[in-house]
Amino acid sequence: MELIKVHDKYFQPFLDENLIRERVAKLGEKISTDFLGKDLVMVGVLNGAFVFFADLCREIKIPIQVSFIGISSYQGIESTGAIKSTIALNGDLKEKNILIVEDIVDSGASMNHLILEFLSLGVASISIATLLFKPEAFRFNYQLDYVGFEIPNKFVLGYGLDYDGLGRNLPLIYQLKTS
Ligand code: IMP
Ligand code: MG
Repeated sequence: MELIKVHDKYFQPFLDENLIRERVAKLGEKISTDFLGKDLVMVGVLNGAFVFFADLCREIKIPIQVSFIGISSYQGIESTGAIKSTIALNGDLKEKNILIVEDIVDSGASMNHLILEFLSLGVASISIATLLFKPEAFRFNYQLDYVGFEIPNKFVLGYGLDYDGLGRNLPLIYQLKTS
């Protein structure tokens, strides 16, 4: 198995490019059907969601608008729990159907923060798409509408996800090698 080293840690291949591509296409198909005839704004959560967002939006076959928001909560391989909005949304989202696009829902705190923020803007509806979901780490009970993969509670890297700033450009998803 091809291990890679990022900073001080080793990672092993976990989800390959074909698997990700097929799953993203399926999600795109489902979203296209569900939002047929509706105004949809896809909101990407920076930085981590940029790769998933770019692939997912090109699998969507209905007209959409796009917007981005930046938040951060991770330091190293631990979620700090304190969420900061770092970039503001562009455009008026009032009365729009919002699809929040995230790389991963871990504890769920970041997404919870975003849901509250969008509710306060008076949007018509909020749906959630996340490429990865760690059910064992999830501490909330809101619904995730579109989930790419449910994964174990281990740190992952690549396809947008980073470890202290590095690894986002890796084309597949790696998992932290323990032991
Ligand atoms: P949460 O608030 O605990 O759900 O964490 C969500 C955010 O932390 C995501 O948007 C990611 O940017 C980051 N994150 C969570 N788990 C991982 C991971 O395994 N690898 C890299 N980043 C992660
Ligand atoms: Mg993120």
